[in-house]
Amino acid sequence: MNVSMTVNGEHVSHDIEPRLLLVHYIRETVGLTGTHWGCDTSNCGACVVLIDGEPVKSCTTLAVMAEGREIRTVESLEVDGELDPVQQGFHELHALQCGFCTPGMLMTARALLDENPDPSEHEIRTAISGAICRCTGYKNIVAAVQWAAQHEAAAKREA
Ligand code: FES
Ligand code: FES
Repeated sequence: MNVSMTVNGEHVSHDIEPRLLLVHYIRETVGLTGTHWGCDTSNCGACVVLIDGEPVKSCTTLAVMAEGREIRTVESLEVDGELDPVQQGFHELHALQCGFCTPGMLMTARALLDENPDPSEHEIRTAISGAICRCTGYKNIVAAVQWAAQHEAAAKREA
């Protein structure tokens, strides 16, 4: 069957098997491998992408469920060589080690700050509670999201 959607601002359309999962559609059909595929059971959060701005685990979403929707993957965060504040925060605060969880963490953080530009530590921890990091202990991830929130707020004040 045919499925059409927008991925990172580009219209895409393909004939696919109805059972194809969104994570495989994004990685193998569209060719964007930044989204990671980990547990396949909705536990780890490595596969999170945004569908119409909402964080969704793409390993348990059928590609056809994204028909007509706007998808954002981790590849959309950097624009013209400029990192998104959440990427910059992860860089500044050393919020990754192996990096496997990072695409999902970044997209979850991006969705949080779009919804709530000034989250508390508790709100950040709640937002990322659906994502597992085996390396960092989460402390630096939380600090990175706080860094991003502060720098986004400062940039808006200057604009
Ligand atoms: S691969 Fe989707 S939640 Fe782990
Ligand atoms: S940085 Fe390794 S799983 Fe998070």
